[in-house]
Amino acid sequence: MSTVNHQILLVSRPQGEASVDNFKLVEQPLPTVNELADGQVLVKHNYLSLDPYMRGRMNDSRSYADPQPLNAVMLGGTVGEVVLSKHPKFAVGDPVLGMGGWQEYSLVDAHVRGAIHKVDTRHIPLSAYLGAVGMPGVTAWYGLVKIIAPKAGETVVVSAASGAVGGVVGQLAKARGCRVVGIAGGADKCQYVVNELGFDACVDYKAHTDPKSLYAALKEATPNGIDGYFENVGGAILDAVLLRMNAFGRIAMCGMIAGYEGQALPMQNPALILVSRLKIEGFIVSEHPEVWPEATQELGAMVAKGQMKFKESVAEGLASAPEAFLGLLKGKNFGKQLVKLS
Ligand SMILES: NC(=O)c1ccc[n+]([C@@H]2O[C@H](COP(=O)([O-])OP(=O)(O)OC[C@H]3O[C@@H](n4cnc5c(N)ncnc54)[C@H](OP(=O)(O)O)[C@@H]3O)[C@@H](O)[C@H]2O)c1
Repeated sequence: MSTVNHQILLVSRPQGEASVDNFKLVEQPLPTVNELADGQVLVKHNYLSLDPYMRGRMNDSRSYADPQPLNAVMLGGTVGEVVLSKHPKFAVGDPVLGMGGWQEYSLVDAHVRGAIHKVDTRHIPLSAYLGAVGMPGVTAWYGLVKIIAPKAGETVVVSAASGAVGGVVGQLAKARGCRVVGIAGGADKCQYVVNELGFDACVDYKAHTDPKSLYAALKEATPNGIDGYFENVGGAILDAVLLRMNAFGRIAMCGMIAGYEGQALPMQNPALILVSRLKIEGFIVSEHPEVWPEATQELGAMVAKGQMKFKESVAEGLASAPEAFLGLLKGKNFGKQLVKLS
């Protein structure tokens, strides 16, 4: 086992767009087993999850969660294996999911409820616990099932459709008998969601930079209008979707990534919310732990049976995390963005 732990700290807050200079790679010595306190386990991370919410935490501004402290290890979901343990329920070699952060190892007090979870990798790959069977999958499940609540035959649209959340939304909606239309950036991503994930259609928003052209493409893909919209992006895409929403449509406001670097996202026609009698609800998945068992049961069963497909973009090594994260905010990822650490 290594004697050092490489870590990435947030050392400054972005002024405008985030940059690699906001991060710093450092190293710390690792504890030996004799240095562990009762209840502590040392986890070696196999994968780090990179997620859009991390961009919000880099700012010191009003949000649903506290900012990431400066000069501390960047927060983040991790999967790995226990390499040292002083907790009776965790043995060396156990595969675990936790919030280990941007580092190669984490020292966890396993007495703290929910600090780490053992996971079953017999039928589900370890990395999927950061994606389709993890936080992004449960996010998709919550917004679709609890907010959009689609009926068979309805049309559901999802933006950032090839991503970690979007891909799951579409496949869950297909399993419920809906017509499913994705919106994604580029022909490759659109072909993937139709040909691999089984969506009925996909609109490439990058091929339609003019609002009228985007609306026309969406209209063609949604001949019966839109009953449910799962919003991941905001801006021009939301404007086009609002024009196609049917009366009493439901919108799950999950993310607005088009504005995460501070871009303004004015809505062109908010009166459509009234005219179409829409229900629009924002949500934060971490505030709904009660759905986790039901959601992960459905998602896990689908992944294990090969009924839920997913793609991963894997950056190699901790040092690649800042670049990979900045790329995620620009759509350079294709599917769930991970960093392979060991
Ligand atoms: N509310 C919650 O609790 C919660 C939980 C998890 C995630 N989220 C949100 O869910 C959304 C998707 O997250 P994810 O983890 O699945 O990420 P992801 O979709 O795997 O990756 C982000 C994708 O967003 C798209 N994108 C980036 N910048 C864009 C822009 N300016 N305009 C349009 N599209 C842009 C890109 O896809 P294209 O190339 O297709 O543009 C990119 O690949 C994010 O908004 C995230 O913040 C919310």
